[in-house]
Amino acid sequence: MLIHLLLGTFLFFIYVFVIKPLCSMFRLKMQFGQDCKISYHFLGGEIWKRLNDMKITHDIFKFEKEQYKRQPYKLFVSNFLWKIRIQVTDPEYYKVMLHNHQYYEKVNVINDNNLMKKGLIFEMNGHWKAQRTLLAEQFEFQKLKNRLPMINQVSLEMISDFQRQNNLLEMLELITGQIVIKSFFGDSAKKITIFEKDIQVAIAELLNDMGEIRFKSKYVYVKRLILGTKACNFFPTENEKKIQQRIELVKFEITKLIRNRLIEIQTSTQQSSSNSKSNLFIDVLLQDYIKNQHSKSESQGIDEILQQFITLLFAGTDTTAILCYHCLYFFAQYPEAQQEIREEVLSVCTEEYILDDRMKQLNKLSAFINEVLRLRNPAAKLVVRNSIQTHQVKDLKIQKNWNVIINPLLQSVSEKHFVNPEDFDYKRWLTPEPILNNDNFIYIPFSAGPRNCIGQHMALMETKIILSQILKQFIIQANEHVIPKWTLRFVYQLQPSNCVRLIKIQEKND
Ligand code: HEM
Repeated sequence: MLIHLLLGTFLFFIYVFVIKPLCSMFRLKMQFGQDCKISYHFLGGEIWKRLNDMKITHDIFKFEKEQYKRQPYKLFVSNFLWKIRIQVTDPEYYKVMLHNHQYYEKVNVINDNNLMKKGLIFEMNGHWKAQRTLLAEQFEFQKLKNRLPMINQVSLEMISDFQRQNNLLEMLELITGQIVIKSFFGDSAKKITIFEKDIQVAIAELLNDMGEIRFKSKYVYVKRLILGTKACNFFPTENEKKIQQRIELVKFEITKLIRNRLIEIQTSTQQSSSNSKSNLFIDVLLQDYIKNQHSKSESQGIDEILQQFITLLFAGTDTTAILCYHCLYFFAQYPEAQQEIREEVLSVCTEEYILDDRMKQLNKLSAFINEVLRLRNPAAKLVVRNSIQTHQVKDLKIQKNWNVIINPLLQSVSEKHFVNPEDFDYKRWLTPEPILNNDNFIYIPFSAGPRNCIGQHMALMETKIILSQILKQFIIQANEHVIPKWTLRFVYQLQPSNCVRLIKIQEKND
């Protein structure tokens, strides 16, 4: 009897973890032939292999790019335990997926329901649509234009301190984080510190630790895969317990800020006239809450605003700071381009603040940023999605509960779409046709379709201002004492954070 039970369990185990995923893989291989690459490994060997390769290649995507160059493919199918993971590299397929976003939920990389689940990145369907409509206005040109003086002010204040700091990336994160915070709360969040750190640094570190913990422990990785967001309550590790405490503290401080602003708005005598014109995200969200107060409690309303704030901080801080950091790295690698672009900045931006009329004239700088985004986009691959129902994408059948990864990265380095794709050549973006065989889904650094990046114009404005202000004041050089590595935390990024040195221009001339 016991033998039968053990045998039954063993066969069930083999079926779920080996036969089922392998059958799916072979079915796709038979259908797509050379266009489909498959790789079976019980514990998702791909992820660990890439992290190991990284030690030799110093670029987590190098192996993948080389493989694709040798033999392009449309799909790459792997697994983790029973779960199929399908990476889609063909624009014809991911175009359809991006349009039909209702079939997918984004996998919550930080595996938590308290910080971002109700924000714009992870919400779905009607909730997502309502939020997107509400926030879209805040990202329109006129609103962004009003924020330009603030973006200049924050950048200038911090850049003057750059040379004394060793951690350039952290300084850039302080700028981009401060810009999101000021866009959201105005000056009221100015002096908030958590664990003696500026609020944006404390939150960025917390989110990064929450994301990274799965790569540091296979126990946590497997637990999350099986239990989802309940994993942290099941025999939590010491690290998981500490993270929970940090979440509570962050939530407590931000809730205080939101509640104070709610009281201000509610007690304001000129409520409608003062706040309807407000440029702050918090006011728009609180006004919406007040309007729909009957449908949710105060704590629910405040919690949703809190999650929206963390979402925007998460989406807008690291990405933009890392893009700036990557640009600085390429300026250091290509001093001639650096000088050409500095000359453009100096001739166009004659005032201290760089406003939209001047920004429009920075053609070479825009081209340079495009080229950096082509080769080293922090959001190189989109957030992993989980298919919520079986559906068809052209001739490809995606089963419910498969993980889907939309991977536009490989198109950006393909000879089919770019001349000498591996060369860093910003001037290609100054030619009439920088992208060959373009169908508008080849080069999509901010994604495309209804769920593209809502903050893309804000990100580009920030990047141009930060880089221009740096170019005006500093010569950018490589730091020969460190080995640059292109790695993956939440986003694809250069490490360590001091790959670049800034030399004050006057001092160099002295
Ligand atoms: C260089 C900087 C940035 C890059 C490369 C970038 C890239 C992206 C990409 C690729 C997506 C799609 C993600 C997916 O579908 O999986 C996205 C979504 C999003 N981004 Fe950005 N982003 C940047 C900056 C910003 C900024 C500054 C903000 C706001 C402050 C922002 C807010 C968002 C939000 C809210 C979404 C979700 C939109 C939705 O689902 O409706 N991003 N971003």
